[in-house]
Order: sequence, then structure tokens, then C-alpha cells
Amino acid sequence: RTVYVNGEYLPEAEATVSIFDRGFLMADGVYEVTSVLGGKLLDFDGHFARLERSLRELDMACPVTKDELLAIHRELVAQNGIDEGMVYLQVTRGNPGDRDFSFPDPATTPSTLVLFTQSKPGLADNPTAKTGIKVISIEDIRWGRRDIKTVQLLYPSMGKMMAKKAGCDDAWMVEDGFVTEGTSNNAYIVKGGRIITRNLGTDILHGITRAAVLRMAAEAQMEIEERPFSVAEAQAADEAFFTSASAFVLPVVEIDGEAVGTGAPGPVAARLREIYLDESR
Ligand code: PDD
Repeated sequence: RTVYVNGEYLPEAEATVSIFDRGFLMADGVYEVTSVLGGKLLDFDGHFARLERSLRELDMACPVTKDELLAIHRELVAQNGIDEGMVYLQVTRGNPGDRDFSFPDPATTPSTLVLFTQSKPGLADNPTAKTGIKVISIEDIRWGRRDIKTVQLLYPSMGKMMAKKAGCDDAWMVEDGFVTEGTSNNAYIVKGGRIITRNLGTDILHGITRAAVLRMAAEAQMEIEERPFSVAEAQAADEAFFTSASAFVLPVVEIDGEAVGTGAPGPVAARLREIYLDESR
């Protein structure tokens, strides 16, 4: 696989980053995941806009222009022959040459930019769309700026492991009695034909897929309510589902051992997945 590190395209075995990089020592960095379908990047503009926002919120400069970044994405997709899969991008605050809590001067410590691809054949035809997934609920103990897409993913990783241990696929995180989001996705329920999903704030990531799916749902005259919902409300809903750049739209059929609706994937999630894939291809 060819990867990208700070201006160079290299075989992955030759790509290196310093042990003093603040991404490694402090989780001081941000990332984006952009899906590829039929060799085409999905919603690059949205991902770039969010990247710029994440960087701005952390007082970091964008190391490349939008056009340069798009060219790097395309080059990696081409060089690695990605038909279905994703491009991962990470910007960290670079290598100050030592460990220090203070941010280094960006003039002397440039940020580190890393990109790589992951091939995922069959991504669009995921059989899970027909079966749905099971989730557990766990307390959301992450930091308070979840709208910034940082590489601090330890708790979401632990949540995923807790879910697996419980025989489930993912965890929905709960704060003050309301679902925030999944470990790496946005959460939704459907009641009486109405799509309910948590409103944007600093407590969840502003999903690029969420924005696209809500726009498409509105265009299809579906009703949308942006507000928090509880686990009990989700369990009593007609349907539940989640969205992310890497999974698109996937149904959730069980929460904490309770079937949602009929316990089978519902029509609203199926329709949204279809519309999303149709528009993306
Ligand atoms: N995760 N919420 C969280 C906490 C996420 O990590 C993600 C994305 C989302 C969905 O955002 P989007 O639709 O822009 O992908 C919501 C990516 C895919 C990941 O970590 O792999």
C-alpha cells in the first residue's frame, strides 16, 4: 500500500512519524474518514469543511490547501486501486522534539499530515443492512468537545469492546439520560414516521453523513425532529438506525436486549440507505 506522509508518497513500511509527535504523546490531532464508492470520494467538501473547523478549534493551521488535499486523496485512491473503501486523514501538532504540555510554536514545529487508504470490497452491499445490529448503552464519559474530531478514541474503542463482550456490535453512549451518539456514528430513532436525532452541539460530532441523510430525508418530505432521546424511548420506537461515513445508514434492531419495533430492520432506515447510496454513486 502506498501512503502519504508530509509531502511524500511512500510504501507503508517506509513511512515514519517521530515518537515525539504530539499525536502520539498527547492525542493532539484531528482526523477525517472519507468513503470511496466506485473509485469516487463521497462528500469531500463536507469532510474538508469539518477538518478546517476541527483545526481552527484547536488553534492549528491547515498544512495544505483544499485542492492539494483533494489531489492527495485522489492520488492515493488511484495508486492503491481503491474501488470501495476509505481514505483516512490525520493532522497532528507535529514533533516539537521533546515532551511538553504547552503547544509548540507552529513556525518551528510544522504539523504532521498522514493519509492512507483502506480497501473494503462490498462496502455498499453490506449484509448488515438486511439484518441490523445490536447495541448496548454505556455512560458517555468522553470530554466535552465531541464536535471536534480528535484522535482521542480510547473510550469509543473501550465501548466497542464492551459491546462485543456483551454479544453486541456497538455501544450508544448516554449522558444525563439521553443518547449522545454511537462509538463512531450518529444515532437515530423513528416514531410514527418521524425521524428523531440529537440536535447538534458540542456533545456530539457533526456527522457529514448525518447532514447528507437529513437533507435527503427533508427532500423526500420525511418529517425530522432534532432533539435528544432516551434509551427507553429508543426501545419503544418503531425503528432505530445510525449513520457514518464508513457504514452509510445501518439499522439497529436491539438496544440493551430489547427489540426495537418488530426486531427487524425498518422501512425508513432501508429507504434512507437506498437514497444515500443512489445519490453517492
Ligand atoms: N466516525 N460520531 C462519532 C463519534 C464518529 O466518530 C463519527 C465518524 C460519526 C459520524 O460522522 P460522519 O458521518 O462524518 O462519518 C459520529 C468515523 C467514520 C470513524 O471514526 O471511523
